Amino acid sequence: MKFFIDTANLTDIKELAATGMVDGVTTNPTLAAREGKDFLSLIADICAVVPGPVSAEVTALDTDGMLAEGRRLARIAPNIAVKLPLTRDGLRACRALSDEGIMVNVTLCFSAGQALLAAKAGARFVSPFVGRLDDLSQDGMGLIGEILAIYGNYPALRTEVLVASVRHPMHVVQAARMGADVATVPPKVLYQLFEHPLTDRGLKAFLDDWAKSGQTIL
Ligand code: E4P
Repeated sequence: MKFFIDTANLTDIKELAATGMVDGVTTNPTLAAREGKDFLSLIADICAVVPGPVSAEVTALDTDGMLAEGRRLARIAPNIAVKLPLTRDGLRACRALSDEGIMVNVTLCFSAGQALLAAKAGARFVSPFVGRLDDLSQDGMGLIGEILAIYGNYPALRTEVLVASVRHPMHVVQAARMGADVATVPPKVLYQLFEHPLTDRGLKAFLDDWAKSGQTIL
């Protein structure tokens, strides 16, 4: 399973890219606005750090506006994935941009029916938001299972399931068990995946014992 990081913060992106675990980046207007920088140059800087897909979201609501913004974003770098909302206009723009060879990430997906439409519109990625469903006492990961089952029935569909709105490491583990293609995780969750108290405790005990031996390796 690929790991994308869900942030527009360049410092975090550089730090996490250095772990070797980052296959791409997702941003959204909220994350980008938080950085207080020029959007287009921020996205260009991110694309220069991470060679995998970097999602940049349009803000227009109509198809023509989305196409204009999407084409502008796609010119930034070859690894741009234009992020479009799962609306009628968004899916029309998805079909057009995908036909032009531009990667599209269809975002704000909350149902299996919507995910089916995104795949039919040629999306490279569909982003079901699991955490936001969980917040409403709905089954976010259940939706991932449904979408994977549907896509599995039609091997010709090329759309990758990108698990979004991830809140904790168990979302990532469940996504991997289900066979999701990608999980986009906030920096905090990626760091949490590295951690286990028994790793820390075990390492300390090993090194304490080793110190008693008085030896060094180099
Ligand atoms: C996905 O691409 C979105 O940017 C993101 O996962 C939304 O997560 P949130 O529900 O934590 O805002």
